[in-house]
Amino acid sequence: MNAGAPIEVPVNLPGQTCRVLVGPGLLARTGQLAREGGLHGRCAVITDENVGPLHAAGVLQSLEAAGFPAVLLPVPAGERSKCLAVAEDLCDRLIEAGLDRGSFVVALGGGVIGDLAGFVAAIYQRGIPLVQIPTTIVAQVDSSIGGKTGVNARAGKNLIGAFHQPRLVLADTDTLGTLPDREYREGFAEVIKHGAIRDAALLDELDPATPRENLAPLIARNMTIKAAIVAADEYEQSGQRALLNFGHTIAHAIENVAGYGRFLHGEAVSLGLAAALEISLRKYGLATAEADRLRAKLSAFGLPLTLPDDLTTDALLAAAGRDKKFSTGRIRYVVCPRLGAAFVAEDVSEDDLRAAIDSLRA
Ligand code: NAD
Ligand code: GLY
Repeated sequence: MNAGAPIEVPVNLPGQTCRVLVGPGLLARTGQLAREGGLHGRCAVITDENVGPLHAAGVLQSLEAAGFPAVLLPVPAGERSKCLAVAEDLCDRLIEAGLDRGSFVVALGGGVIGDLAGFVAAIYQRGIPLVQIPTTIVAQVDSSIGGKTGVNARAGKNLIGAFHQPRLVLADTDTLGTLPDREYREGFAEVIKHGAIRDAALLDELDPATPRENLAPLIARNMTIKAAIVAADEYEQSGQRALLNFGHTIAHAIENVAGYGRFLHGEAVSLGLAAALEISLRKYGLATAEADRLRAKLSAFGLPLTLPDDLTTDALLAAAGRDKKFSTGRIRYVVCPRLGAAFVAEDVSEDDLRAAIDSLRA
């Protein structure tokens, strides 16, 4: 454990305070930072059965030491826990634990826990404060920022949810030390996505050999990209925030058709990015060398570029059609004519999507 000073990432949302810190040693400071953030009362630490045994003790100790009565609420690990039944069960457990409108929720885990616990905080007694403690790369660079919370429906990913900004985000880089290799690598799909939509120079700095303990600046840079996009379009109305969905239409379809949990989110995003590159290449002028550069980065992190045969193109197209991004009847699809500069296109056809999915066959 290294006790360097954390990096503070500015988040500018009108009328809301969201403090974001990145660096080592933050778990042990949870209670003090929650107190500085004006939180009070009881709290519940929602985590999963992998992360809890590794990281919950330090968080609970810190909260108790700062005078917050805290209860630990674990759920099974993995995407299948991101559902209404688990959210409802967690609400019952919050009632049993005596949490009221003066209490708060701490989400300790990856993006599944952040989205699930965030949703519970959004709906419990019409909304109580939330602290995000992201413990995966996906959660640190992406899901802990921006206030999108929610659960999956049978018909599709994230179809039930709420915007609920966290008061405090503590991205403790020490937690990345216990992340298994596959779960570590998947997170770089969202990092590569940020490079593709906003910051092409970031792509050159990505190296799978970078020691995990040196990642705080990279994580802060990604959080800054995301926070700026969210600040410009918090409720995804102007189209700017929609850029963050680059690669996600097909990714969500893959997760849904394959069955939640078979692909890690970042693995599905890697395939979704490859499909979006294909459409950008065929129809929007992306240079082959640029598409190859992005695909090479995904490969360097061991991320998939080839679809398994059992996921048929028809099933993926049907699932993509149920995705909320198609709900207006028009296909709004993020394309990238040049790395670092994506936009939302309105003229991507089903045939374009079909050809892009077919291009992912071995
Ligand atoms: P995850 O939360 O399932 O974590 C992956 C695995 O790693 C799990 O088994 C978990 O138990 C384990 N784990 C987590 N931290 C660990 C640690 N430090 N040490 C050891 N094991 C650890 O998956 P994820 O990839 O972090 O998140 C994916 C989810 O995030 C998806 O549901 C996706 O839709 C969502 N997401 C949301 C947003 C948003 O803006 N809200 C953005 C991106 C992704
Ligand atoms: N992950 C997409 C968003 O936060 O808008």
